Amino acid sequence: MGRVAVLRLCRVPVCILRDAVRCNLSRKSSGLAGTHSTSTTDSGHSYQAVLCTKLKKPLVIQQLSSVALKPTEVRVNVHCCGVNFADLLICQGLYQHRPPIPFTPGMEFAGCVLEVGPNVTSIHKGDRVIGVSSTGAMAEQCVVDHEMLWPIGEELPYEVAATLPVSYGTAILALQQRAKTQPGETVLVTAAAGAAGLAAVDFASHVLKAKVIAAAGTDEKCELAMQKGAVAGINYTTKSVKEEVKKLTANKGVNVVLDTVGGDIFKDAFSRYFYR
Ligand SMILES: NC(=O)c1ccc[n+]([C@@H]2O[C@H](COP(=O)([O-])OP(=O)(O)OC[C@H]3O[C@@H](n4cnc5c(N)ncnc54)[C@H](OP(=O)(O)O)[C@@H]3O)[C@@H](O)[C@H]2O)c1
Repeated sequence: MGRVAVLRLCRVPVCILRDAVRCNLSRKSSGLAGTHSTSTTDSGHSYQAVLCTKLKKPLVIQQLSSVALKPTEVRVNVHCCGVNFADLLICQGLYQHRPPIPFTPGMEFAGCVLEVGPNVTSIHKGDRVIGVSSTGAMAEQCVVDHEMLWPIGEELPYEVAATLPVSYGTAILALQQRAKTQPGETVLVTAAAGAAGLAAVDFASHVLKAKVIAAAGTDEKCELAMQKGAVAGINYTTKSVKEEVKKLTANKGVNVVLDTVGGDIFKDAFSRYFYR
């Protein structure tokens, strides 16, 4: 019996999603883009942060005071953070998690450790790390529990590393932990050229050793997914995913569907033609 891992949350207008989801907020030592930095990030006393002070209104940048660390927490000097669909939702009050206002949005980041709490032994000052947090990443400093951080190598640029936690974390959670994908199984990934999609294609193909069929909205996107490891691509703007899956699998269907689109494709994913 096949399995479906659903990541679809809800739709926002296309223009918002396309403009915002795949970009990164990138900050180098000069401070956040478009601001005059007066922060003292290195000493850890104060820092600049993006703040949502009112839902559905423009975000503001303010100087905040650092808070003391709890014993298992780590303070990171954030160099880059990802901007995800969920960040857009949370700033509109449309996400399942609704933090009290004002809050700093941002769920994933890459940076350098400034300070560790007294009970932290696995991470040290100066380490390069990536991390996840429900909020707080769109700031010069982010404080998280040490379990939400992972070390990264010198060769991985911060702007690339910052995009890994949500996309790859989601792919790993969905395909390995939820769907329990096995080597040799066939996985269909929709929106395969998106952030979550490409991570899923890469992880399923190269780590889980599955055969991946990539479905996406253009031939170029299908090609990109195939460069990441997919064995076949289906352009769902011009072809029926259901019919193409039948052809590609000799009517056997796939073992796992990872859908981040919803709508008709999601309904199709429950079709018996999709499953072995
Ligand atoms: N933990 C989680 O639950 C989790 C984690 C990450 C992402 N997600 C969700 O997964 C979805 C994709 O996230 P992502 O980071 O991969 O986004 P992304 O990089 O922007 O990719 C989104 C893809 O969705 C397709 N799409 C279909 N309808 C769309 C529309 N109306 N507007 C824009 N794109 C549309 C596009 O591909 P085509 O043109 O090929 O259709 C696009 O490449 C989002 O709903 C996000 O919230 C959930």
